Amino acid sequence: MKALLTAGGHGTRLRPITNALNKHLIPIANKPMLVYAIEKIVNAGIKEIGIVINPGDKELSRVLGDGKKWKAKITYIEQIGGALGLGHVIKISESFINKEPFLFYLGDNIILGELKDFVRQFKKGNDNCLLALSQVRDPQRFGVPVIKDGKIVKVEEKPSHPKSNFAVTGIYFYDHHIFEAVKKIKPSSRGELEISDAHTYLISQGYQVGYNEITGWWKDTGKPEDLLEASQLMLSRISRSFDESIIPSSAGIQGNVIIGKNTKILENTLIRGPVIIGENCVIGNSYVGPYTSIGDNAEIYHAEIENSIIFDYVDIRAEVRIVDSILGRNAQITPVHKTLPHGHKMIIGENSIMEL
Ligand code: DAU
Repeated sequence: MKALLTAGGHGTRLRPITNALNKHLIPIANKPMLVYAIEKIVNAGIKEIGIVINPGDKELSRVLGDGKKWKAKITYIEQIGGALGLGHVIKISESFINKEPFLFYLGDNIILGELKDFVRQFKKGNDNCLLALSQVRDPQRFGVPVIKDGKIVKVEEKPSHPKSNFAVTGIYFYDHHIFEAVKKIKPSSRGELEISDAHTYLISQGYQVGYNEITGWWKDTGKPEDLLEASQLMLSRISRSFDESIIPSSAGIQGNVIIGKNTKILENTLIRGPVIIGENCVIGNSYVGPYTSIGDNAEIYHAEIENSIIFDYVDIRAEVRIVDSILGRNAQITPVHKTLPHGHKMIIGENSIMEL
């Protein structure tokens, strides 16, 4: 069995972070989001992975390499023509899949459980397509199955009046009939070949579309608050790991905290886990509270931070309390009293959000 993993698209709802970084490389507990997907795929026993990328994207292959790290083989597939929908992603990957059954995994989905049971169910059963469903409070954001007498009879993409409270998650299993479906369907009103239309096509042609519910946690990381929630979940699973001898007596480290190599924790600092801090950082006179991740080479002085994702090379030198925030690479927060006139001076990118 092969796996097809998505890493294209524009991540518009995560701008400005995604102006400079592919959404799938956003760090969750200091690990690129897509690495969680690769680990799940490999744990399910699948070693041949095609990653679909935007045309000309070099960043993904630079960060993830050829897959050896996971004893897998990664092939990068450019989505020529751009993000024309998930049906298009499958269409352009036909020669990579080469008639084998495959797992289609949306790279912005994060799950806690394992996929082994799904793989087993698909291999043993007669389904041409197996969908992983999850109960959600906001089904109108997703593909929603219409279920009658225990069978899916149709899948509606982002319906304004959902007919069930299940979402079709971004984890799908297919045999080669899906290629017939994505060739037959037409672009939707937003110009995309919708994966939900491909599923409805399979059903209409009498192919078997089965389902199972994902047990445990599942998240589509479309919005900033989804990233923070995914981060909380991953951080709640870390263990305490750092060199106790680097901590000065006036500093405190409470709970599960990971501190990377060459990071200096200075006087009067309190770190209350779960917190992960990368390498070569300096943190002084600050409080870093639960559910915060800090990348490499960050410097933080006089600040309080909680429930936030701080990228590499962030520099914070202001007496501020930062909560529920995402600070991109190289972001700087400096004290207001340093230069005249006083006031909040900002150079913030398109679509930035500030709560002052
Ligand atoms: O997360 C589950 C949902 O994913 C399903 O319930 C929906 O039925 C399905 O359409 C999809 O909806 P989204 O609106 O969340 O899809 P999104 O545009 O965010 O794309 C999902 C992933 O696929 C993400 O990794 C980006 C990538 N992508 C997307 C498109 C449209 C591509 O690589 N190429 C594309 O053309």
